[in-house]
Amino acid sequence: MFKKIFGSGKNTPVDIDKDKLPKHVAVIMDGNGRWAKSQGLLRSAGHLAGVKTLKKILRFANDIGIEALTVYAFSTENWKRPKEEVDFLLSLFSEYLAKELDEMNEENVRISFIGDRAGFSEKLQNEMKNAEERLKNNTGIRFTIAANYGGRDEILRAAKKFAEDTNIDAKNLTEADFERYLDTADAPPVDLVIRTSGEMRLSNFLLWQAAYAEFWVTKTPWPNFSTEEFLEAIRSYAARERRFGGV
Ligand code: FPP
Repeated sequence: MFKKIFGSGKNTPVDIDKDKLPKHVAVIMDGNGRWAKSQGLLRSAGHLAGVKTLKKILRFANDIGIEALTVYAFSTENWKRPKEEVDFLLSLFSEYLAKELDEMNEENVRISFIGDRAGFSEKLQNEMKNAEERLKNNTGIRFTIAANYGGRDEILRAAKKFAEDTNIDAKNLTEADFERYLDTADAPPVDLVIRTSGEMRLSNFLLWQAAYAEFWVTKTPWPNFSTEEFLEAIRSYAARERRFGGV
């Protein structure tokens, strides 16, 4: 019944045709710190509130039938933050994986990480690997966390991997070949980038993958970002005409 009236949505029906939905949504979850300050709280409280928003948005995106959601959790530049904040964020990743994996599994979510894991402790690297392994046979949304991620760093690492690969001749290298060396090797291209907290920039996020992505920015800081606003971004995307450089 719902299927007939609404084009998409496994559990949460939305009135957008399935073929108009973005396949891959990427989110720059900005504004945790500013939100915390506005509430008279520590920055860490902003990140904790950010995790709550992330859980809500992931569930909703999965429900409405988005194929892939990638979030920017920690950039290669974020190491410049005060040590206490970096340590807090890293411990939050571990805690998140320990606490949320069962529920994600029940909700059929697959998880993966992009970015240079070598920068993390062996313990966190193992937690990441175990999480990926445990949810790998699920068939729902592909949820990717970008951690110690930078678009330039990813492209450079890919170029190094390519240079070490003797199976392919540089002269014959195509874009499709090169993509296989990126961290996102088997993900669809990014259709929509959402950024919260108002800045109009990509901040080294998915430089290759977002080449033709539509952009949607809101002033709302990440902790206050709602499923209604997420849907507004999706609707805005569905109404746009994408030309990929053509006419
Ligand atoms: C940007 O806000 C946010 C981050 C650098 C971290 C994002 C992390 C989370 C939402 C929580 C952890 C995620 C997982 C996957 C457990 P900001 O701190 O730069 O805010 P500001 O620009 O207002 O200072």
